[in-house]
Amino acid sequence: MNDPLNIRSLVNSRQGTVKPAIYTDQAIYDLELERIFARSWLFLTHESLIPKAGDFFTTFMGEDPVVVVREKDGSIAAFLNQCRHRGMKLCHADSGNTKMFTCAYHGWAFGLDGGLSSVPLEEQAYRNKLDKSKWGLIKVPRLSVYKGLVFGNWDRNAPSLEDYLGDMAWYLDGFLDRREGGVEVVGGIHKWVIDCNWKFAAEQFCSDQYHAPYTHASAVQVLQVATENKADGAPLGDGQTARPVWANAQGGVQFSGQGHGSAFFFTEKADANVWVAGAVSNYFRDTYAEAEQRLGRVRALRLAGHNTMFPSLSWLNGTQTLRIWHPKGPNQIEVWAFCIADKQAPDEVKEALKLSHARAFGPAGFLEQDDSENWVEVQKVLKGRIAQQSDFCIQMGIGFEERRQDGIPGVTNYTFAETAARGFYQRWADMMTAESWDEIEALSASYEKEVVNG
Ligand code: FES
Ligand code: FE
Repeated sequence: MNDPLNIRSLVNSRQGTVKPAIYTDQAIYDLELERIFARSWLFLTHESLIPKAGDFFTTFMGEDPVVVVREKDGSIAAFLNQCRHRGMKLCHADSGNTKMFTCAYHGWAFGLDGGLSSVPLEEQAYRNKLDKSKWGLIKVPRLSVYKGLVFGNWDRNAPSLEDYLGDMAWYLDGFLDRREGGVEVVGGIHKWVIDCNWKFAAEQFCSDQYHAPYTHASAVQVLQVATENKADGAPLGDGQTARPVWANAQGGVQFSGQGHGSAFFFTEKADANVWVAGAVSNYFRDTYAEAEQRLGRVRALRLAGHNTMFPSLSWLNGTQTLRIWHPKGPNQIEVWAFCIADKQAPDEVKEALKLSHARAFGPAGFLEQDDSENWVEVQKVLKGRIAQQSDFCIQMGIGFEERRQDGIPGVTNYTFAETAARGFYQRWADMMTAESWDEIEALSASYEKEVVNG
């Protein structure tokens, strides 16, 4: 245990409290970059965005810029996106295809494999004394692909991606594996900035089903879209009332494990999703049989779930948004939202899904704005001296955790609970204070055991 910032005094998952400093303090944020983002498996890109040799995609791991490259042999590698000469950002494009990366500052050029291949004036300026083999790009040492999602990890000692996912893989499969052939990214990537701490977004998608009926009430009323009765997505008639999924759901589940979280409702309708166009809703219904065969009934029907893979990758089933919350200091994030579709879906469904995705969860999306407004306002309040000192309450459903016998894995609770929030902050505190992965895993295991056994 190494806790220079006294993190253990700020998070108490057993009692259900957190102190607001975790969302605002610069020193805590700096430690997060070291102990969370430099040790966790982070989403980099989707394979479908770099299909050919020489294709590249630039992103961030924490605040470190990285470039992900499809190598000549078809494999994928990722490098710190920084020239080794004097630190200039190497590749400035969002994505593209290239034979090499040439630095805009003095012209050092690096091959797709990261090796330094040419240096201007090598003979005259360096007198042929520069050992180019020592000045290749810094490689992301761990890279792993899970059903098309490409992940990287700076920590050579981290567990495998599969072990890191743990029970979350069961939930992730419900998003990625509905049909043969898997998924792809459709359309471009929406990127925008929100003035809030990254944990507000990640934790809400992990755990907070409770906000939906209240925060999104106006969206439901204005749109007048029903879930159960309007599979064609047509507007309701006069006198009819919108009925989002939570209005008639038969209970639900919240999952928590290793910092990951998910929450969803049970529903009996394969096309039950309030937020997407009729063509998309019909597509879910028409492909339900295949999804049920692959995933079983619960996951094939769970189109109303939200999810976070710790620390900062979230997705929503149904509206098919996958988003990474890139941290930009303690008070800001950059959201990158990808629309995910089954590869086998017809083009008109992909197009309708893309529009539905933008309408609901693009930067101006009617649900997106509801959510981000809350996070921004909380962050603003936390500028106050007194506000910074009051505990936040994450006690909902505490003591009612269980392990189910029906095949739904992990520590669970009723869907309206803060079980996954407590698990998220527990994992956060464990990673912020533990010095080794053995220690992290032992702390998490003992917390989970205690939660379930009381
Ligand atoms: Fe890149 Fe000098 S900083 S070539
Ligand atoms: Fe929301």
